[in-house]
Amino acid sequence: MLLLGLVLLQVTGASGITDVVAAYNLTWKSTNFKTILEWEPKPINHVYTVQISPRLGNWKSKCFYTTDTECDLTDEIVNNVNQTYLARVFSYPADATDYAGEPHFTNSPEFTPYLETKLGQPMIQSYKQVGTKLNVTVQDARTLVRMNGTFLSLRDVFGKDLSYTLYYWKASSTGKKCSSSLEWWCLQSSS
Ligand SMILES: *[C@@H]1O[C@H](CO)[C@@H](O)[C@H](O)[C@H]1NC(C)=O
Ligand SMILES: *[C@@H]1O[C@H](CO)[C@@H](O)[C@H](O)[C@H]1NC(C)=O
Ligand SMILES: *[C@@H]1O[C@H](CO)[C@@H](O)[C@H](O)[C@H]1NC(C)=O
Ligand SMILES: *[C@@H]1O[C@H](CO)[C@@H](O)[C@H](O)[C@H]1NC(C)=O
Repeated sequence: MLLLGLVLLQVTGASGITDVVAAYNLTWKSTNFKTILEWEPKPINHVYTVQISPRLGNWKSKCFYTTDTECDLTDEIVNNVNQTYLARVFSYPADATDYAGEPHFTNSPEFTPYLETKLGQPMIQSYKQVGTKLNVTVQDARTLVRMNGTFLSLRDVFGKDLSYTLYYWKASSTGKKCSSSLEWWCLQSSS
């Protein structure tokens, strides 16, 4: 009899937990500081709310009760791109207006925008070939990082930490496809 009681208790305990599915596979996607947190799974009968904070600082909620599996956190991280951030995704039952239970949440990996944002594909603003020299001007991409009310460029944010490397090759000799930003050079050298 005691054994049966224990089994029953475990079963009800388990079904209570499966009411709300915890998010998993939390992933930061960030390019030129545009930063989105993605996770799984697509919700069935539940919703998510995201929180973000500087490492163990004040939690701020975003993307309230969403059925999406991503949340744009750009506005939060551009305030200080050198800060290390942590996010967490809470799961709530979809029909719970005043959810009393302890909400399930999953932590994201830590994210430091300055070190981890990917650089978008550079745009070639102009180029000029003079004899054997090639003068290439790369457009300085705008970011969503603001200072004194204006948006900073990648160069403004990274300063000397930002450098570009120019690769070129003869399209005809290697059969390689050119990246679109370098297409002009492939056209020139294949003639
Ligand atoms: C987590 O996400 C990555 C890439 O988005 C994917 O390759 C992987 O299969 C996912 N893992 C699980 C357990 O779904
Ligand atoms: C961020 O950190 C880098 C490298 O430590 C530094 O050069 C840069 O000035 C910092 N930027 C801001 C906005 O604090
Ligand atoms: C390269 O081109 C840019 C823009 O056309 C120009 O401002 C710059 O002076 C040129 N640099 C050299 C070394 O020719
Ligand atoms: C922003 O404004 C402050 C004070 O108004 C000034 O000291 C600083 O140089 C400005 N920064 C930039 C990048 O313009």
